[in-house]
Amino acid sequence: MTSAGPTVFHPDRAPHGPVPVAERVTWIGALDPDLRSFDIILKTANGTTYNSYLVRGSAGVAVIDTVKQEFTTDFLTKLEAVARYDEITTLVLNHLEPDHTGAVPELLRRAPHAHIYVSPRGLQVLRALLKDRFDDYTVTTVTTGDTVSLGDRTLKILTTPYVHWPDTQCTYLEEQNLLFTCDLLGCHYCDGRLFNDRVGDFRFSFEYYFDHIMRPFKRYVAEALDMIEPLEIDMIAPGHGPVLRTHPRDYITHYRRLITKRLARETGTQKTLLIFYVSAYGATAQMAGAIHDGAAESEDVRVSLFDLEGGDVAPFIDLIEEADGLAFGTPTINGDAVRIVWDMLSSLVDIDTKGKLGAAFGSYGWTGEAVGMVEARMQGLKMRVPERGLKIRMHPTGDELEECRDFGRRLAAHLAGRPMEREIDLSALLGS
Ligand code: FEO
Repeated sequence: MTSAGPTVFHPDRAPHGPVPVAERVTWIGALDPDLRSFDIILKTANGTTYNSYLVRGSAGVAVIDTVKQEFTTDFLTKLEAVARYDEITTLVLNHLEPDHTGAVPELLRRAPHAHIYVSPRGLQVLRALLKDRFDDYTVTTVTTGDTVSLGDRTLKILTTPYVHWPDTQCTYLEEQNLLFTCDLLGCHYCDGRLFNDRVGDFRFSFEYYFDHIMRPFKRYVAEALDMIEPLEIDMIAPGHGPVLRTHPRDYITHYRRLITKRLARETGTQKTLLIFYVSAYGATAQMAGAIHDGAAESEDVRVSLFDLEGGDVAPFIDLIEEADGLAFGTPTINGDAVRIVWDMLSSLVDIDTKGKLGAAFGSYGWTGEAVGMVEARMQGLKMRVPERGLKIRMHPTGDELEECRDFGRRLAAHLAGRPMEREIDLSALLGS
């Protein structure tokens, strides 16, 4: 009888030395199986890996990315097993975040003649990383189409910014159809078996990583995929997680699916407005209903109304990501908005909200700060907030409900691209 083996991390099988990835290409990265949160906010049930690769050509040796600083000794030990420092002609830095550049200063101390290649945006971060030693090294900025020759091996650069930092790029080893992607197409999953056809099931980690790192940058992921998809690809070597050597294109296809809108056909050309509210005594609910009714008069806008008291935040994030406009209704309680509204607003950091229409409203008893606080948060998320938030003291009167309906009409008009003329309320401007 055989017992089922562990599925997450195999310390017995963990590579203590470099691992051949392809002909002339060697993994010289580090395993971090005990990490349980990355960048503070990301859970890592399986730890992670910091993948660095060494490429040997007939006229030079390249290192592609390095590792987090605390793994420098581990990284250099692996490197020394496959190359001498004086052989290293090239250091390609696809992304300058510290988990990939922590070992750069020490590597350059030992291989000072290595020619560094970074994206133009990466240059300023490299300067900050190397401080007063920056001028000791040779640095070239590279963009799409630039090549670095290692003799019989060629590294071709693809500039793929904002996946997920401004500096990010990919590097393509032309002769072997091997693409080094750094964070793109990676995941936080540590398994010493390294290759996607050998490690445990990491699909959840691949999607979780996408959701929290790449999702806010979908438009840039799309541009990166546009560049990558035409390439012949036999292997994808990311900066974290398994090396994708079996069916690598499936992972590109999956990214394409993850960035594709689901509701485009359902809503046709209509704009979408989602109204979320919570209500303590029913007053904010009345406002929400009236705003809904006013906005729904427009045939150009599909309006949806949700009581957050009856819902969790997470299921709404997909809807919000694809919506054109959001309105949040909250009473003011103890000088603040209600917690579930904050939970939802803080969750929006995982998606791209730039340019969406935002609006706030709510009933209040004494001070009514919540509406302004929600507006400020939406502006912080780079949403446009064209209408001043609507506050009504206690329950709305018939006239005030009409004011709410008009607020809804205005929001719909903004979404339809036909903003309504606005009557200036001088008493409101004077704060009376
Ligand atoms: Fe893996 Fe953006 O660093």
